[in-house]
Amino acid sequence: MQHCNSLAERKEKVMEKKIVKCEVLLTRKCNLRCRYCRIIRDDVETERDFGKWKETLQALKILGSEINPIYGAEPLLEKDLLLKILRYSAEIDAPNTIITNGELLTEDLAKELYDAGLRSMTVSFDSLDGIFPDKHSERKTRNAEKVIEMFSKFPDMRDIEIVVTITRQNFREIPRMIREFSSRGIWTSFDLIHYDRGQHETKCPPREAIEDLLFKDEDLPALKDVLLEIKELKQKGCLLHQDPETMDILVKNLKDYSWECTEFGFLTMEADLTARPCDDWCPPELYRKYTVISLVEDGKWDEFHNLRKELRKRDKCHCLWSTHIMSEVWLRDVNVGTYIRHEYKPEVNS
Ligand SMILES: C[S@@+](CC[C@H](N)C(=O)[O-])C[C@H]1O[C@@H](n2cnc3c(N)ncnc32)[C@H](O)[C@@H]1O
Ligand code: SF4
Repeated sequence: MQHCNSLAERKEKVMEKKIVKCEVLLTRKCNLRCRYCRIIRDDVETERDFGKWKETLQALKILGSEINPIYGAEPLLEKDLLLKILRYSAEIDAPNTIITNGELLTEDLAKELYDAGLRSMTVSFDSLDGIFPDKHSERKTRNAEKVIEMFSKFPDMRDIEIVVTITRQNFREIPRMIREFSSRGIWTSFDLIHYDRGQHETKCPPREAIEDLLFKDEDLPALKDVLLEIKELKQKGCLLHQDPETMDILVKNLKDYSWECTEFGFLTMEADLTARPCDDWCPPELYRKYTVISLVEDGKWDEFHNLRKELRKRDKCHCLWSTHIMSEVWLRDVNVGTYIRHEYKPEVNS
């Protein structure tokens, strides 16, 4: 790859904001094996050259990323690199959060992460009522209280958040979760469970493996009611990551996961620092072909972006990820409640 200009010079050439967020898959290794997840893989190695990480984090700023959620499979398995990334991100003012299963978190590690500049922590949480898809989901959910407690002690956390994978088993619990966590100052985010829909480089298992967790037609009216209730909670000021419009879009497109993202405000980055459109889809034509650093070279962003738009039409990824729905809203409206955009103004009844 050629670097004829410095990153600062190349910044001048990136004319407008390209992304609002980049999901960083720090590692493809995990210490749990949740039944609904297939993100673990052994053919992608984490980049070890920290110079490249620094340049990549700068490139993300140039592209416009306002937040880089760091996950993967399990990010705490890469503690040393993670600490370096956090320190450097603080230095260049590049906000982030970590999404973790909490297995490896100790008081000492929490302090190290905080001292390195971490100001937002996200932990998975699947059920208040103790009904889990498997013992791995149960373990991470049980870790959540520990994570929340450890980070609640720090004085200036931007936010602490739970992220719920909504399934046929737990969807009725979601409004209660939002109310309970919100009353404690904890944010909630969610994604509806996905299965492998034939898209390249999916992070999801085949339908048969999680049939019992997927929604059936007869669930849809109740699921819609829950989503509308959640929307109302958001409008009343509960700490929910998703904006009300996302809930409307979900409600309209629930059947057969018929939503397709039309904008790409987000980017996902492989552990080897290559760019992909999404953590659940990447066509072979793009997979590990563009480093994030290369995207700020002359013409490369347009090449990558146009290609992914084109290929999405062919691949019909049928994405219903709330992240991508939200990206559309983020790109045109700053007033949504998110990790960093907490300015959402709830409706006030007079
Ligand atoms: C891939 S994990 C990585 C971070 C960390 N290991 C964890 O579990 O929080 C990030 C989120 O994706 C969710 N997830 C995994 N498989 C999913 C699927 N098939 N559909 C929807 N969400 C899924 C997980 O539950 C978790 O909340
Ligand atoms: S959901 Fe998270 S904890 Fe569970 S297997 Fe996937 S990466 Fe690991």
